[in-house]
Amino acid sequence: MDIQKIISFAKRRGFVFPSSEIYGGFGSCYDFGPLGVELRNNIKQAWWKDMVVKRENVVGLDSSVLMSPRVWEASGHLTAGFADELVECKKCHHRFRKDFLENKKCPDCKGELTKPRKFNLMMKTFVGPVEDKASTTYLRAETCQGIYVNFKNVLNSARQKVPFGIAQIGKAFRNEITPKNFIFRIREFEQMEMQWFCSPEQADKFFDYWLKQRLNWYYGLGISKKDLRIYKVPKKELAHYAKKAVDIEYRFPFGFKEIEGIHNRGDWDLSNHAKHSGQDLKYTSLSCSGKPYFPYIIETSVGVDRSLLAFLCQAYSEVKGGRNSSAVKEIETVLKIDKGLAPIKAAILPLVKNKPELVKKARKVFDMLKESFMVQYDEAGAIGRRYRRQDEIGTPFCLTIDFDTLKDESVTLRDRDTMKQKRVKIDELTSYLKKQL
Ligand code: GAP
Repeated sequence: MDIQKIISFAKRRGFVFPSSEIYGGFGSCYDFGPLGVELRNNIKQAWWKDMVVKRENVVGLDSSVLMSPRVWEASGHLTAGFADELVECKKCHHRFRKDFLENKKCPDCKGELTKPRKFNLMMKTFVGPVEDKASTTYLRAETCQGIYVNFKNVLNSARQKVPFGIAQIGKAFRNEITPKNFIFRIREFEQMEMQWFCSPEQADKFFDYWLKQRLNWYYGLGISKKDLRIYKVPKKELAHYAKKAVDIEYRFPFGFKEIEGIHNRGDWDLSNHAKHSGQDLKYTSLSCSGKPYFPYIIETSVGVDRSLLAFLCQAYSEVKGGRNSSAVKEIETVLKIDKGLAPIKAAILPLVKNKPELVKKARKVFDMLKESFMVQYDEAGAIGRRYRRQDEIGTPFCLTIDFDTLKDESVTLRDRDTMKQKRVKIDELTSYLKKQL
C-alpha cells in the first residue's frame, strides 16, 4: 500500500492536516482534525489505562515542557550524544542526515556534499523578556526527564517503594534535520513514556517483562503479529543514556520502522541529576541491606503520532466493487480499527429524513447515547451511502431508526466488519455498546 493513500485519506476525512496549510505548510508540523483528535485521545486513554489505571505500582505525572536548562546539561542532551550528523549540498544548500543518504551526492540536485558536522536536536527558546544566554532554555526533547527530576517528589508523596513506575504523556520537540514519511518523523510530537525504577539486579528481568507487556498492548489493539518485529539495538547504535535497548518496529508502507523503544538506562539519569543538582537521589531499601543506591531505570517510550500512523495503516482497507452489492462500482474504504480506538462509536441514522416521527426518535436515541459515547447523527443521503461513510472512518456500529422502531422500540444495529444486522431494544443500547466497546 502507498503511504500517499493514507495521507490523502487522513486529510479528506479530517484525521490529519498539514500545519499552517493556508501559508504553504510549516516545517513538517501537523494538525489533527476532528477525527484525528478523537483517535489520539483514544490511543492515549488506552495506554494510560494499561500502564497506570490497571497497575498499583505505576503512578502518573504531568511535568512542564520548559525546565531548567541544567536538566539538559545533566541528561547529556546538550552534547554530541544528542546530535545527528548533518551534511549540506554545496550547490542547492539543502541539508540531510548523513545516515539517511544512500550515496555521496545530493539527492535533490546531485551536487557535492560538505563534510558531516554534528547538529544538536534540542529546540532553543528564551524565558522572560531578555533574549540572552542567561534566559536560554529548551523545549524538552523527551518527556522522561521531567520524571527523573521528580523521582524523590513522587517517591515521598505517593507511598511507593522500588520497584515502581512513573508514567507521563506529553509533547516533545526535536529539530529533526530530515523529517519525513508524513507524521512518522516530525519536529513536534507526543510521547507516552513509563519509567520503571528497580534494583540493578532486577533490571534484566523487568526489561523482558515490559517488552512483553508492550507487545501485548499492540496485539490487543489489532496490530497483527506479522507486522511487528523486535530490533535489538547494537552497542554502537545505542543512545548516549542506554545500556541496552530494543526497538519495537512496525511494517509501515515505507518499511519496518521503530514505533517504540524499550531501554535499560541503568543509573545514567539519576546519578547525573544527583551530581549536577547536588541532591541525594539514591534510594534506601528498608528490607534489604539498607545501603543507598541509584535505582536502574527500564523505560518504555512510544510516540502517539507514530503509533497513530501504525493503527491507521493497519486498519485501512479497500474493497473493490463494494462489499455487499455489485451495483457499487467505486472502491469502498473500510477502516477496520479496534472498536475502542474508533473515533466515532456509533452512527444514528433515521431511515429517511422527511418523516418527522423517525427524525424525532433518532434524535432522542442520539441524545441518550451522546451522554456515554462519541456518536454521530447523520440523515443525509441514501442509507447505503451513509453506511459507507461510517465504514470509511471506522465507526463500529450503525443504528438505523426505521418504521418498526416506532412500534417495537428497537433499532437495527449493523456491525462494521461483518455487516450483520440485528434488532436491539433502545433501552438496552447503552449497556450493549458498553459491552462491545
Ligand atoms: N525517552 C527515550 C526516547 O525519547 P527515542 O527512541 O528517541 O527515545 C521514543 O523516542 C519514541 O518517541 C520513538 O519510538 C517514537 O515513537 C517517538 N519519536 C521520537 N522522535 C520522533 C519524531 N521526530 N517524530 C515522531 N515521533 C518520534
